[in-house]
Amino acid sequence: MKNIDSYTHLRGESLFVDDMSVTHDTLFGLTFDSPKAHGKIVSVDYSKAEQVSGVVRIFTYKDVPGVNQIGGIIPDEPLWAEDEVHFWGQPIAFIVAESEVIAKKARLLIEIEIAELPVITTAKEAKAKGSFINAPRSFEMGDTQKSFANCEHIFEGETFSNGQEHLYLETQGCYAVPLENGNIKITSSTQGPTFVQKITAQVLGVAMHKIEVDVIRLGGGFGGKEDQATPWAVMAAVAVSHLKKPVKYILNRHDDLRMTGKRHPYESFYKIGLDEDLKIQAFEVEFLQNSGAAADLSPAIAERTLFHATNSYFIPNVATTVISCKTNLPPNTAFRGFGGPQGMFVIESAIARVAHELGIDKSVLQEKNLLQENDQFSYGQIATQVEAKNSWNSVKQNFEYDILKAKVAQFNIENELFKKGISLMPITFGISFTNTPMNHARALVHIYQDGSVGVSTGAVEMGQSVNTKMLQVAAHTLGIAPEKVKLESTNTTRVANTSPTAASATADLNGKAVQKACNALIGRLTTVASNMLNVAESEIRFVDNVVKVDSEELTWEEIVAQAMLERVALTENAHYATPIIHFDKTKEKGHPFAYHVYGTALTEVTVDCLRGTYEIDAVSIVHDFGNSMNIGIDIGQVEGALAQGIGWMTMEEIAYGTDGRLLSNALSTYKVPDVFSAPKKINVRPLTTGGHDLAILKSKAVGEPPLMYGIGAYFAIQEAVIAFNSNYKPKFHSPFTPEKVLKGLYE
Ligand code: MTE
Ligand code: HPA
Ligand code: MOS
Repeated sequence: MKNIDSYTHLRGESLFVDDMSVTHDTLFGLTFDSPKAHGKIVSVDYSKAEQVSGVVRIFTYKDVPGVNQIGGIIPDEPLWAEDEVHFWGQPIAFIVAESEVIAKKARLLIEIEIAELPVITTAKEAKAKGSFINAPRSFEMGDTQKSFANCEHIFEGETFSNGQEHLYLETQGCYAVPLENGNIKITSSTQGPTFVQKITAQVLGVAMHKIEVDVIRLGGGFGGKEDQATPWAVMAAVAVSHLKKPVKYILNRHDDLRMTGKRHPYESFYKIGLDEDLKIQAFEVEFLQNSGAAADLSPAIAERTLFHATNSYFIPNVATTVISCKTNLPPNTAFRGFGGPQGMFVIESAIARVAHELGIDKSVLQEKNLLQENDQFSYGQIATQVEAKNSWNSVKQNFEYDILKAKVAQFNIENELFKKGISLMPITFGISFTNTPMNHARALVHIYQDGSVGVSTGAVEMGQSVNTKMLQVAAHTLGIAPEKVKLESTNTTRVANTSPTAASATADLNGKAVQKACNALIGRLTTVASNMLNVAESEIRFVDNVVKVDSEELTWEEIVAQAMLERVALTENAHYATPIIHFDKTKEKGHPFAYHVYGTALTEVTVDCLRGTYEIDAVSIVHDFGNSMNIGIDIGQVEGALAQGIGWMTMEEIAYGTDGRLLSNALSTYKVPDVFSAPKKINVRPLTTGGHDLAILKSKAVGEPPLMYGIGAYFAIQEAVIAFNSNYKPKFHSPFTPEKVLKGLYE
């Protein structure tokens, strides 16, 4: 089945916030943000801006009716700065005008004086100065110190992975409309409608039921709209509450790039120990997370870094610590993988380092240490239904790794100015919000009297095709054609108290709720049909829009019509909460994940050793989809995530000045993968498995895990650089831009 949005997407007819028709009295918002990264606000003069014709009002923290606070996990972030600014781009005021052009004109006339304070831009500096978000977290298993004493090989090193801009095609935005009695309806481009609702209510000092949040769909979120879609919606709502007029606010790309947080850069320090058989015995890491100026989701992201610090390997002695360092950058936030990729880059670097020092093939070390059935993770969960070796072996066989390796060696002998490199990258990713209480969802299913069906869930469609999957679940469970089912917008009045669409778990959580609701409806319709046909309920099956018993046949519509006459409820609301999972934060042990997703990628690159440029020749992947319910969509997720992962590891270079100003503030200075830099070939093969019971229809979560296949590109490029220049000392400093490659080639 195709993505249900493909027809309207292709024709440009799909609706996003900015496509909504607005009323004639709609006003337009624009943020005035800090032009310095750290300092005391001495004065702000709005008078000239206020005099611009068409400017309606400029809002600041003084206009907040409730609390000037938007922090999700820790209340450490004001909606609008009060007397201090903590990052370049921090919102200070909100200009509301008759048009965006007028608001922009007014913004230029605001005069601000800031007494500057020292600026911290790196995690290391923050650590040295004791600038932290919260207390560090540590996971431990076994005894690393004891184990190191018995290790044959021990290496210590440092790695760096840079941030990453989400670059959702649709920038942040919202449209807030006043309803009667002070109620407000907000259409928001958010992954977290309930978070927008809750924070808006808090800032306005009203009950949550006064705020309705509706989400049509997102033009991409990638984590960037999990928490950071909120401030704009809240600003617009504050303006609405004062002006009693609709307010629309769509960020332009420049403002969005400057004001929003990104993937967290990490500086990490590791120590790895192996025995004489090259089994990794001990692994210690200190992760320094560059959190930015406020917590946002940093503590949760830090936690996931610890969960994925050993990737697909079994290591008996582990001691990992993560420190969320407070800097003067925009608060960094969720980004596909949610701290997992940063953790996995470190273990892969450590293994590559050992391989380089000992002069052995990295893949030999990787293979020796792959996770096996019943191995334990550092957080206590026992690995079951492990596919690490299966996907690894499958890639090697299907894509003829040994032959490729020989060909690459031959190529490198024959070519002086071009070198090839290959790498294998296994992934293991835990599915569930790491915060157990967030793993729940609800669905509301209506069967209308004509037999058509409307489904509402807490899932937000952001291009990952979750709506298509929800529709499939409903159609499959009800035994009707997909055309009979419609997916409604995501709305807090229909489905309340939702967790954000995140953690790759949306289809599982919401899908299980849809399934439950549809099963309840089928239960009631079975009674109706069994009476109509005068047969036992056990003989009733809803398949392809009909119930057939012997030669008698009832259509879905006939049964629904009869149910109406019998006053049978044709609406069902169901709740699902993941069973089994638990986690004890005092011990840092438990069973936090419903299951893990596995896979392995084989990456092949060619480096131009004159220019330092490179091409990704091919990426071949064997991925554990479980029993995929929609292989087209799932392969699309793998391809997209892979491109995004390669971008993070190779070319996307976020740069801030030492003054905290974003230098890579446009697409002319920030390079994202395009059709030329994408792999020339991407082969994705599903691993044959039975799937997992906690996955919807046994079809495993797919959104984030494949991003980490992109890490393979870093190491393949490194292999090629070493093939050209044996003096090169691996840096483990991503992204591996052509500039760094060139320097490395001639080091
Ligand atoms: N795919 C598209 N096209 N657009 C997106 O914004 N977000 C990713 C992933 N795939 C995203 C995407 C992220 S960060 C997550 S967590 C998952 O989708 C969320 O959706 P799911 O839980 O339905 O997989
Ligand atoms: N993943 C993604 N988003 C989240 C999580 C998580 O584990 N926890 C809170 N938000
Ligand atoms: Mo995805 S980073 O969990 O939104």
